[in-house]
Amino acid sequence: METLGLLSVAVTLFYMLLGERMVNMRKMYLASREPVKNHLPNCVLLKNLNNGSEDITVFGDGLAFISTGLNYPGVPSSDAPGKIFLLDLKESDMEPVELPISNNLDLETFNPHGISVYTEPTNGTVYLFVVNHPHHKSQVELFEFVEKGFSLLHLKTFKHKLLHSVNDIVALGLDRFYATNDHYFSDELLKTIMEPLLGQPLSNVVYYSTDMVKVVSVGYYFANGINISPDKRHIYVMDILGHNLHVFERKEDNALAFVKSLALGSLCDNIEVDPKTGDLWLGCHINLMRIFHFDPKNPPGSEVIRIQNIHSDVPVVTQVYADDGHVIMGSSVATIYGRKLIIGTVFHKALCCDLD
Ligand SMILES: *[C@@H]1O[C@H](CO)[C@@H](O)[C@H](O)[C@H]1NC(C)=O
Ligand SMILES: *[C@@H]1O[C@H](CO)[C@@H](O)[C@H](O)[C@H]1NC(C)=O
Repeated sequence: METLGLLSVAVTLFYMLLGERMVNMRKMYLASREPVKNHLPNCVLLKNLNNGSEDITVFGDGLAFISTGLNYPGVPSSDAPGKIFLLDLKESDMEPVELPISNNLDLETFNPHGISVYTEPTNGTVYLFVVNHPHHKSQVELFEFVEKGFSLLHLKTFKHKLLHSVNDIVALGLDRFYATNDHYFSDELLKTIMEPLLGQPLSNVVYYSTDMVKVVSVGYYFANGINISPDKRHIYVMDILGHNLHVFERKEDNALAFVKSLALGSLCDNIEVDPKTGDLWLGCHINLMRIFHFDPKNPPGSEVIRIQNIHSDVPVVTQVYADDGHVIMGSSVATIYGRKLIIGTVFHKALCCDLD
């Protein structure tokens, strides 16, 4: 009797704790948030991109790299290997083309996630850094963009035990970058079940260079997009599950000094920075529960947020676009070129709209 009584108390406590953790998780995922519509004129879906366009970066004279085909635990995805596409935003047909990859990269297991472009100042050569998850591991690939005929030449793979769950990167040079780790655990089960239930700020930002690798920032519920200001002095890091953006100043030793954080009230993913104005463009999720428990009848929506005057005392946060998921689901990135807005998604399509 005694032991049975104790056991039932223990079981009850366990379920209460589990219930409390589930409630907490639903709050972090904004599970009760209903997708809304806030449309823009003249939107067209981009051709050839039906298996996600998780990250998009504009570079040079109106070109954009797009990472597609991400296979991420718990999220719908295609079985086809990932690819990198190139979009020429100056063309009116908006038809991205696949970039052939040469050299020794294993294309069958290529699983591209966050990307970053680095243009060598001395000779203008464009380099593309790509977070890659072959067999759900994490590593960073370096490619040279071959402009003649449009292709990617694989140059190098960066691996390190601190680069264990990389989501996004921002390149600082040919062998230097900051990277976000979106999880603390590497083991699949701990990562996908235990860590969301724990709901603790355990994820971090790492600085990588050939002679030094170090953790430069900690305390994120899920560190996601990372990018740099046009003057290279500030770093922006998104905590998607903390619902806020963190702003840092770069120190000489590449340490990050915290400046401030900005609450967004949404689940923002990648950060793109307008090189002219310094405005931040964010691809955000309206409700993450609808991504992880995907149901086409209740699709996850999409949201694009712009932040102006980020370094002032009163940054302006504006919802520029929103969809209930019937046009575009699960937006993870937004970027602009002229008056065009390009929106990419984790596993769905990509959309291009006029801003006015
Ligand atoms: C998208 O995924 C489907 C199903 O896995 C595959 O057949 C198709 O080739 C993929 N498309 C691209 C552009 O990778
Ligand atoms: C451009 O500069 C980089 C860095 O110095 C060098 O590695 C690369 O070979 C150069 N490329 C060309 C085409 O000159």
